[in-house]
Amino acid sequence: MEESKEKLQEIARTMGVGQYRRHVFLCLGPDCCAEKVGREAWDVLKRELKDRGLSLGAGPAACYRTKVNCLRICAGGPIMVVYPEGTWYCGMTADRIPRFVQQHLIEGKPVEEWVFTRNPLPHDQSANPNPPASPVA
Ligand code: FES
Repeated sequence: MEESKEKLQEIARTMGVGQYRRHVFLCLGPDCCAEKVGREAWDVLKRELKDRGLSLGAGPAACYRTKVNCLRICAGGPIMVVYPEGTWYCGMTADRIPRFVQQHLIEGKPVEEWVFTRNPLPHDQSANPNPPASPVA
């Protein structure tokens, strides 16, 4: 099924895309962690973002979340990466998620003891921070 670009832009606006400060990708396994462990971490991440008002694209700490089934590390999971900083976390079990949300997403200070590498992405100055109101050619 093919959706029009206008329809997709409307969906993106509804999801708050274009207003987020960060994007978190959390691996739910199965190779870096048991799928049950990844699922539990995901459920807590969803709840924490919602409870702290970070999940709808509003505010300076707004964060989009995506669950994935492999970030190609495949050990020491659940593996998680946060963009645009490109901060890679290991061992992100459910019990670690609340501290991560508070310290990294709200206070802007990564939890260094759980970070195992970094790959920051350059900020694209040409990018429109908000979704277009009209269709893009
Ligand atoms: S299965 Fe999680 S990084 Fe590959």
